[in-house]
Amino acid sequence: MKKKLIAGNWKMNGSLAANELLIKGLLAGVGQPVCNVAVCVPSVYLAQCHALLEGSVIELGVQDISSHESGAFTGEIAPAMLKEFGVHYAIVGHSERRQYHGETDEVVAAKAQRALSSGITPIVCVGETLAEREAGKTEEVVKRQLAAVIHANGHCISEIVVAYEPVWAIGTGLSATAEQAQQVHAVLRAQLKAATPSADRIKLLYGGSMNAANAASLLGQPDIDGGLIGGAALKAQDFLTIIAAAV
Ligand code: PGA
Repeated sequence: MKKKLIAGNWKMNGSLAANELLIKGLLAGVGQPVCNVAVCVPSVYLAQCHALLEGSVIELGVQDISSHESGAFTGEIAPAMLKEFGVHYAIVGHSERRQYHGETDEVVAAKAQRALSSGITPIVCVGETLAEREAGKTEEVVKRQLAAVIHANGHCISEIVVAYEPVWAIGTGLSATAEQAQQVHAVLRAQLKAATPSADRIKLLYGGSMNAANAASLLGQPDIDGGLIGGAALKAQDFLTIIAAAV
């Protein structure tokens, strides 16, 4: 059976002291999980987190990646640099990057492409705003966002991870219900199936106020293959409870 993936998105949180405490707490409790586990940390802490996680079952990820290989792109971080610190995953197209940094579907697709060609697995985020949901546009929006990535990546698409993150559920404490999430995941799975015969092995994560209390019911849905977790990933015990629910 396909392993689930539980990925923490620390966002712009942490410090040398807090990271060490959190990672040591995770390592003390994680054991041999049946799912894959990753933490996507602020890039400035990669060296620290890489050293703390080396040889463990917890893989390292980042929250963004450049669509360029190298050169005159002030402030950007190249995939080859990330690889030097053992980075496995890069979140791409998180709604906060789309909203505050003007990332378009095309930019997101180019970042996913660059990650793939560098041997880093992109976690491609899609999701509708509350206004879009209320206007009945959920399906249209997520399909458009995913279509751009499929278009740019062709048969490599089977190597990506997709995260459905309804914008209205992120950081609000108001998670989508398991049924709401499954409904959208089924749409995304069908879209991926039309693009590649290997769609069944693509992991579809849910993100948006997933926590220790609701994880089991979300992760029990047939097309939910893991979670992208923000707030609850900053508390070792909560993140460990979610990992344990990913069977
Ligand atoms: P949240 O964030 O779990 O705090 O809602 C999820 C995310 O933005 O990836």
